[in-house]
Amino acid sequence: MKKAHALAGLVLSTALLGAGISSAFAADETLRSLADKNGIYIGAILNSQWFSGGLPGNYEQIHKAQFNIVVAENEMKFDATEPQEGRFNYNNGDKMVKYAQQNGMRVRGHALAWHSQVPNWVNNYKNDKKKLLAVLKNHIEKVVGHWKGKVAEWDVVNEAISNNEPMWRSQSVWYQGIGPEFIDSAFVWTHAVDPDAELCYNDYNLEQGINPKAKAGFLLEQVKRWVKNGIPIHCVGSQTHVEDTTTDKHFIGSPDSLRSLAKELAKLNVKLKITELDIGFKSGINVSKKDLERQGQTFRQYLDIILEEPNADTYLIWGVSDKWSWLGGLNRQKGLIYDDNLKPKPAFDSILVRLQTYEPPKDTAKKDTVVQDSIKKDSTGKDSINAIRTIPSLNSLSMHVAGHTLFVTGAKTAKVDVFDMQGRPIFSAENNKGVFDLTTIAEGLYVVRVQSGFSNLTKRISIK
Ligand code: G3I
Repeated sequence: MKKAHALAGLVLSTALLGAGISSAFAADETLRSLADKNGIYIGAILNSQWFSGGLPGNYEQIHKAQFNIVVAENEMKFDATEPQEGRFNYNNGDKMVKYAQQNGMRVRGHALAWHSQVPNWVNNYKNDKKKLLAVLKNHIEKVVGHWKGKVAEWDVVNEAISNNEPMWRSQSVWYQGIGPEFIDSAFVWTHAVDPDAELCYNDYNLEQGINPKAKAGFLLEQVKRWVKNGIPIHCVGSQTHVEDTTTDKHFIGSPDSLRSLAKELAKLNVKLKITELDIGFKSGINVSKKDLERQGQTFRQYLDIILEEPNADTYLIWGVSDKWSWLGGLNRQKGLIYDDNLKPKPAFDSILVRLQTYEPPKDTAKKDTVVQDSIKKDSTGKDSINAIRTIPSLNSLSMHVAGHTLFVTGAKTAKVDVFDMQGRPIFSAENNKGVFDLTTIAEGLYVVRVQSGFSNLTKRISIK
């Protein structure tokens, strides 16, 4: 993985300081440290409220502890950066870039050419193609130039495809005033200013299939054309704003569909990134613990694409906590991985456990994954009680399994959670005896997490 990860290591100790606030589990190992080890980027936006200092301190502590990539919710958009013609405002973007540099994070730029959040003055030129081209070119040159070398990747074109038919979106000042060539031009201009930046086309509903009538199918044809014509495009961003499968009867998107898109893009040497993930429930419904666990599994299924597909490297969530989420405007709720009180939800655990248990195929050169020295293999080569990762503990917490019984030592009271190899929670208990009966669990491989106070230990076990 790329440059940012060397930096990430340097700031890990700082990051860990903030992690224990919401979760004892996170005190020792974070999404970020595991993403680093797996050679991927995992991130969340900085919400607009962060820029005005309107968020509690633990928001930022969690953010920098858990994530190694960041994007601004609104602050690098056209209306924020050029509110008046030719008068640029980089203050908020600079603030985020400084934060990212101080914390060793990669920066995404969002977004250059988009029909939405365009200031009114641009519309004055909607009938003047030459002027509009000049406006867009100047905007890109100034903004990309300002953050050259600091913003690693840009959403050069955002949401340019129609929702209803396989065609370009016509309700756009850029499309109406310039025509579809604004898209190719935007990529060329951006590349000319910062040839090292990764340039993405970003859109939603790309997880709904790659047939020619679907948005992703139409996009694939465009990507083929861009690649053939030498237009500098390096990545497709799938926003992936999806709804829980059981509450949306019309839901037609799926992780499998998005994986198909990743595979097609790989043939074109173009990356797939998940750039704005949230998995919401319809507003107004009661969301049960079971619903939240199912939501966690969907988060995990999308993560699998990023872990497993060689041309996929980024897993970015559109928010940290449900409390500050744009989803209400879409009549959805609870779509993120931290709850209103900044406590990790089952989706957080699901992602964490998947990152802990993922083992890249040995015979493929997947990304530039760093294989940890700390992963200890059982010298016998058997799976039985084979610790894949022992998290450093503050005390001498230890565990072992004999048949269907788990023994924990070094803790007065211990909480035990067992997950299957896909990160699904299947057992949870807490006691002060140090002995846990696992007879309800079928034979197989599992991950066990033991927590005691601020110490925790995670191991892979085999139940026979
Ligand atoms: O800045 C004004 C403020 O001055 C005013 O007082 C306030 C009153 O409502 O509005 C503020 O602007 C809001 C802006 O966010 C900044 O907070 C807009 O009303 C509001 O519509 C805008 O919403 C943003 C939305 O994009 C606009 O399209 C959301 O925060 C943001 O999460 C959302 O992000 C988009 C991605 O950029 C592209 N993909 C979809 C995603 C979700 O819609």
